[in-house]
Amino acid sequence: MLWRIIWVVVLLPTAVSAASEQPNIIFIVADDYGWNDIGYHGSEIKTPNLDKLASAGVKLENYYVQPICTPTRSQLMSGRYQIHTGLQHGIIWPCMPSGLPLNDPTMPDKLKEVGYSTHMIGKWHLGFYTKDYIPTSRGFDSYSGYLTGSEDYYSRKRFAGGFTGIDYTVNQTGRNNTYGEYSAHLFTRHAQTVITAHAAQESSPLFLYLAFQSVHSPMQVPEKYENMYSNIEDKYRRIYAGMVSAMDEAVGNLTQTLEDSGLLNNTILVFTTDNGGQTLSGGNNFPLRGRKATYWEGGVRGNGFVYSPLLKNPGSTSKELMHITDWYPTLVKLAGGSMAGTKPDGYNVWDSINLGAPSPRKDILHNIDPMYKKKGESVSKVFDTSVQAALRHGDWKILTGDPGFDSWVPEPTLYSDYSRRFNDSSNTSSSSDQNVYLFNIAEDPTEHFEVSAKYPDVVDMLLSRLAAYNSTAVPVFYPDTDSRCNPALHGGYWGPWQ
Ligand SMILES: *[C@@H]1O[C@H](CO)[C@@H](O)[C@H](O)[C@H]1NC(C)=O
Ligand SMILES: *[C@@H]1O[C@H](CO)[C@@H](O)[C@H](O)[C@H]1NC(C)=O
Ligand SMILES: *[C@@H]1O[C@H](CO)[C@@H](O)[C@H](O)[C@H]1NC(C)=O
Ligand SMILES: *[C@@H]1O[C@H](CO)[C@@H](O)[C@H](O)[C@H]1NC(C)=O
Ligand SMILES: *[C@@H]1O[C@H](CO)[C@@H](O)[C@H](O)[C@H]1NC(C)=O
Ligand SMILES: *[C@@H]1O[C@H](CO)[C@@H](O)[C@H](O)[C@H]1NC(C)=O
Ligand SMILES: *[C@@H]1O[C@H](CO)[C@@H](O)[C@H](O)[C@H]1NC(C)=O
Repeated sequence: MLWRIIWVVVLLPTAVSAASEQPNIIFIVADDYGWNDIGYHGSEIKTPNLDKLASAGVKLENYYVQPICTPTRSQLMSGRYQIHTGLQHGIIWPCMPSGLPLNDPTMPDKLKEVGYSTHMIGKWHLGFYTKDYIPTSRGFDSYSGYLTGSEDYYSRKRFAGGFTGIDYTVNQTGRNNTYGEYSAHLFTRHAQTVITAHAAQESSPLFLYLAFQSVHSPMQVPEKYENMYSNIEDKYRRIYAGMVSAMDEAVGNLTQTLEDSGLLNNTILVFTTDNGGQTLSGGNNFPLRGRKATYWEGGVRGNGFVYSPLLKNPGSTSKELMHITDWYPTLVKLAGGSMAGTKPDGYNVWDSINLGAPSPRKDILHNIDPMYKKKGESVSKVFDTSVQAALRHGDWKILTGDPGFDSWVPEPTLYSDYSRRFNDSSNTSSSSDQNVYLFNIAEDPTEHFEVSAKYPDVVDMLLSRLAAYNSTAVPVFYPDTDSRCNPALHGGYWGPWQ
């Protein structure tokens, strides 16, 4: 009998307390939301709701995402670097028969294992050419949103590859009954429905993934929000600011619903951008270099914070190194789940967020994209420096090949013609012939002082680390588009075609 008593005494209490402590997780992603576009970074754009949550939570100020949409979302859902999923290159275009590989469990798969109700609202952008790739096949109990990367904010029409169609699904059924409603409001309404229905009917913990369309192009917003910024002369910056305000209001409404439904006190809310701001569509990352789709800090250093009444150190700022892949192990662990059967590139950073402990993460592989080669010879025998790659290691950052558009787009308040003046969409490449760049990001976060010539040993060390990562890479999967995607063949809607 003795073993039975020990069993009960030792195991039962932990099982019970783990269950009762499972927090609700609300994970909010903003699209193309720039570093200099959030109130607490000193922006002229007002974000009272985001600022309030961030000030009462933990601001993540050494936090990284990927430079474009699919890469960041794939790493969030899989916890894996792109070199390990085959998604190293570009995005998944609407007619591309590609998707987040099916062999590994997603974050919602893992949360479901430990009893979470899992709901998704908004932008997916991780493939949909067969039913196996859509959110409800990847761990979500319900899904209302769009599958491609961008569309009209009101009609939900997407034009791509010569085809046009509507891209929206309401809870796996209704499709075109959302016509005309601005997406920030539509998504918020759907999220509020999920939260109130969950609070009323379920005893399980809730995982809600809300991926806003805001503030990606096209530049669209109801007049009311644009009119909040009559002080901004530049038309596109003014619309963009209004788009941000609509999203900020949405987050305020959502938090209110969490509170009203009684869920908020046991909720962890994460807010993150998916990549740097698109300066060609009203966004701004000043004082950071580059923009969306580049490996400069303006492309990869992200706005992010955690808000929760459960935090031990509310009102603090974390300078610990963190990355989008870290959410998977961090949140699965917080949920009392298991990482068995996963091969994470992320780290559990909860003690860094919650207690200010040093980050377990020492480096970030920003990416190695073998399909993006610059002309010219490699300067190294260890790693082909004509290939676009970037690695952070401690305070150092190395970039190879062409890191992308390399200017500092200035503070928008200085220019009444901001969007026209810096509308340099032809400049997608770095202006330099160099193919190795080294920066000390802690001392020089704006990447003004390139020091590869001064620290050749550091360069060699970092190239060796890149080579070591490269030796674990899988081949790139970037298939040709397939015209069977044509929405005209599927009732006018974008959706699975194979
Ligand atoms: C979708 O349906 C599920 C139940 O199947 C429900 O819990 C959820 O609230 C619904 N979502 C919306 C947006 O109506
Ligand atoms: C937020 O809630 C208010 C009050 O219900 C509503 O007027 C507004 O449209 C909502 N905004 C969003 C973005 O959901
Ligand atoms: C949250 O509030 C509800 C209702 O007031 C209460 O039952 C619950 O114990 C609270 N949970 C936490 C973690 O404080
Ligand atoms: C990565 O490894 C492959 C296979 O060994 C090699 O062909 C390729 O050149 C390496 N890439 C770089 C950037 O060095
Ligand atoms: C920027 O340039 C693109 C392409 O030349 C053009 O379509 C767009 O209207 C321009 N935007 C602004 C704000 O001038
Ligand atoms: C592109 O960049 C180059 C050098 O960085 C600059 O001289 C040129 O004016 C830029 N072109 C545009 C269209 O902004
Ligand atoms: C969707 O609804 C709008 C407005 O009612 C209509 O113009 C459009 O033709 C509809 N599209 C489809 C595919 O039913």
